[in-house]
Amino acid sequence: MPKKLFIKTYGCQMNAYDSQRMMDVMAPHGFEPADSAENADLVILNTCHIREKAAEKVYSDLGRIRDIKRERGPAGAEMMVAVAGCVAQAEGDEILRRAPVVNMVFGPQAYHRLPEMLARAQRFNARGGRERPVDTDFAASEKFDALPESQQAPGVAAFLSVQEGCDKFCTYCVVPYTRGAEYSRPVAPILAEARRLVARGVREITLLGQNVNAYHGDGGADGKTCSLGQLIWRLAEIDGLARIRYTTSYPGEMDDDLISAHAEVEPLMPYLHLPVQSGSDRILDVMNRRHTVEFYLRLVERIRRARPGMALSSDFIVGFPGETDDEFKETLQLVRQVGFASAFSFKFSARPGTPAATMDGQVPEALKSERLLALQALLDTQRRAFNSGCVGRTLPVLFEKPGRHAGQITGRSPYLQPVFAEGDTALIGRIVRTQIIDAGSNSLHGNLHLQAKAAE
Ligand code: 5AD
Ligand code: SF4
Repeated sequence: MPKKLFIKTYGCQMNAYDSQRMMDVMAPHGFEPADSAENADLVILNTCHIREKAAEKVYSDLGRIRDIKRERGPAGAEMMVAVAGCVAQAEGDEILRRAPVVNMVFGPQAYHRLPEMLARAQRFNARGGRERPVDTDFAASEKFDALPESQQAPGVAAFLSVQEGCDKFCTYCVVPYTRGAEYSRPVAPILAEARRLVARGVREITLLGQNVNAYHGDGGADGKTCSLGQLIWRLAEIDGLARIRYTTSYPGEMDDDLISAHAEVEPLMPYLHLPVQSGSDRILDVMNRRHTVEFYLRLVERIRRARPGMALSSDFIVGFPGETDDEFKETLQLVRQVGFASAFSFKFSARPGTPAATMDGQVPEALKSERLLALQALLDTQRRAFNSGCVGRTLPVLFEKPGRHAGQITGRSPYLQPVFAEGDTALIGRIVRTQIIDAGSNSLHGNLHLQAKAAE
């Protein structure tokens, strides 16, 4: 009988990609996906350490899993529980101490060794052993080399990890500690993975990396490394690959290659997630972001000149230590100047081991909440304005799956907005010119019938 594997993913798209790859690693060992922990033989929590809330959630979920295990009696005793990802990397020992239900812990660079770790953990478990396997070694290259080909149907839009880790050391961020130094996969296996995805029906690929635009993989022209812009050119040559995206980018790494790719490579979508974090030069400096407001604004101008109509998105942190009211207002000012199609914003969360966690001038929670509300109100207005600006336009929509209601299908606009329309599921996997007739704060409503009429 096949065994059941339940993976819960927290946090970013890199984690979502990693979770899929863990499924791929376990499939040859007789595991198939389960949709809940209740009847699983192996439960993996693929965790995120970026903010305190995300990390704490893991412990409360582990409490629930302990209860499930108990309720299942003898079958529960066989159920194995693993904590993976960035919390595992950052505080593996603490997890083992706080949560005896956990059988093994492994970091983001170790999941290709999952089958052998599981076997070890099962041996300990059977003997009632106390020692539990922990694997938080760093060597991203080894992981990518060892991954088997995916057995799962990839759908219409897929992620492809091209870069991992970060050397930037923004003073608030745990990523350089949990994901390690920057590593770029070589070009050849990336192209091979992309071709395999396209052969299985994928039309859109999002290239992933914590610092994706710092990509510099082996396999460029003349024995040099290949930049992200050049990689995008190579991917665009793959027949059948209609759309390319990438995330997340660092402002200081947007080079000319990449900006001109936005002007010249048709499948490269006119949407860019380019986190700025703050609109105050002083705060940016203490954050060690290595860019100023002026630099960011000029960069946005250059990108928009290269690709008119480019939609921008960003991340923001409010209440960084020492942030004054005026400095926060500068963030609002920057938002007004740029105009974002969408954005994520967060209250500063002190992460153990990062320099900002112990800086003077920690901002009271209530003030952080107040600032977050004000920023989100402004960003929300901008997102609604951007969405309503699409009403009346005809946008190419890549339909990905059936919608929530019968007869409905859903897909994405070039700007990553979800679009719903009444339409035949035969259109899934196709890019259809869709007349946008309505906009909400998070999605668009399209009409395919109107479009067909116009074409008659
Ligand atoms: N507190 C709040 N937000 C953070 N981010 C990263 N570290 C922290 C932190 N300590 C945000 C940044 C980053 C996004 C992924 O998470 O905005 O771009
Ligand atoms: Fe964290 Fe800064 Fe690296 Fe982004 S660039 S992962 S915010 S350290």
